[in-house]
Amino acid sequence: MNLIFAVDGNWKIGYNGQMLVEIEEDLHRFRRITEGHMVIMGRKTMEALPNQQPLENRINIIVTRNKEFTKEGFIIVNSLEDLFPLLKEINPDKEMEVFVTGGGTIARQLLLFCNKAYITKIFRDFRNTDTFIPNLDLDPDWEMVEESEVFRQDDIYYRYIDYKRVRW
Ligand SMILES: NC(=O)c1ccc[n+]([C@@H]2O[C@H](COP(=O)([O-])OP(=O)(O)OC[C@H]3O[C@@H](n4cnc5c(N)ncnc54)[C@H](OP(=O)(O)O)[C@@H]3O)[C@@H](O)[C@H]2O)c1
Repeated sequence: MNLIFAVDGNWKIGYNGQMLVEIEEDLHRFRRITEGHMVIMGRKTMEALPNQQPLENRINIIVTRNKEFTKEGFIIVNSLEDLFPLLKEINPDKEMEVFVTGGGTIARQLLLFCNKAYITKIFRDFRNTDTFIPNLDLDPDWEMVEESEVFRQDDIYYRYIDYKRVRW
């Protein structure tokens, strides 16, 4: 599995159900990387999608404990135990990649199964935050493998950093 997230200086990722900031170019990149693949998200992240619609050209999976929950265009799983057999069933030959796209609760539980992370690092420490993912710079199991130049949208500076797992 892969992680794909935009984080601030403290690896915070959201506030009050929303992203900390929307970087247009980063959203295009997110689309380029994930298109044709599978995306896994928690129910709260789905609620933050534009019009709560599935991401186009991707298999969209929502994780929720609510057994009554249904949503057109999404596959629903009620536990992580159910997730793995489902992934095998939909993607038996592993032709598609699997991206953990949010939010913090899901990322923290699935990090253990990820071996690559596409991180957009925003050079700012946002004051209002309530969600985070683990800081891979401090995790000896992870190593940075690629780093882009610094880009800018208005007064937001950011760069793309890829990490890979070096041990389990
Ligand atoms: N910066 C980024 O790249 C980025 C990306 C995505 C999201 N975000 C932000 O992250 C925030 C949302 O993250 P979050 O951590 O609050 O919520 P989340 O991970 O999106 O969703 C949490 C929900 O997932 C379900 N869930 C979690 N673990 C489960 C398990 N083991 N089994 C079954 N269901 C499980 C539960 O749904 P039920 O309550 O329905 O049972 C839980 O309430 C938002 O602010 C969003 O904008 C940021």
